[in-house]
Amino acid sequence: MKKRVAILISGRGSNMAALIDAAKDPAYPAEILLVLSNIADAGGLERAREAGIATEVVEHKPFGKDRAAFDRAVHAVLERHRTEIVCLAGFLRLLTPWFVERWSGRLINIHPSLLPALKGLDTHARALAAGATQHGATVHFVVPELDSGPIIAQESVPVLPGDTEDTLAARVLAVEHRIYPLALKRVAQGDVAG
Ligand code: GRF
Repeated sequence: MKKRVAILISGRGSNMAALIDAAKDPAYPAEILLVLSNIADAGGLERAREAGIATEVVEHKPFGKDRAAFDRAVHAVLERHRTEIVCLAGFLRLLTPWFVERWSGRLINIHPSLLPALKGLDTHARALAAGATQHGATVHFVVPELDSGPIIAQESVPVLPGDTEDTLAARVLAVEHRIYPLALKRVAQGDVAG
């Protein structure tokens, strides 16, 4: 039985697209049944619809500062779709500990750095500013502490002379698109536990 997967996005959804592509393989152990966004016009939603995948929007704005209520609304949608695994793919909302614990071991994220280095935002600029020679991407289980859960997959790229944020981001993104499907496969097969 394939695991039922929902992907949460806020933007263009290139990692989402990589997961959707991987899941087209009949041997892949997960199926993407839902793409949910907090942004109604997120580019990735259109890509998901084109791929024939159900989409849902739960806007965070009407909830104001009530993160718990927003998370309960997202949780209800995930339950309605009988979701088993949740993939965060450029989902730009912090999730409450209640949500994270409710999905413990079944909630994964991709982060554009070699964790535990460079948690948080603007990782490419910070790698360049620090004079790093290696950078990369990590897929990890989500825990309440930001970008800190057990690592499922990680791959490095070199930082090259003359790199800009854009050139470095593009090199890392190519790695992201490779390791996220591998990581989801491992989780869906039960090869790793969070
Ligand atoms: C990726 O770099 C991901 O690592 C980060 O946000 C970006 C999302 O890009 N969390 P996309 O929407 O998957 O193209």
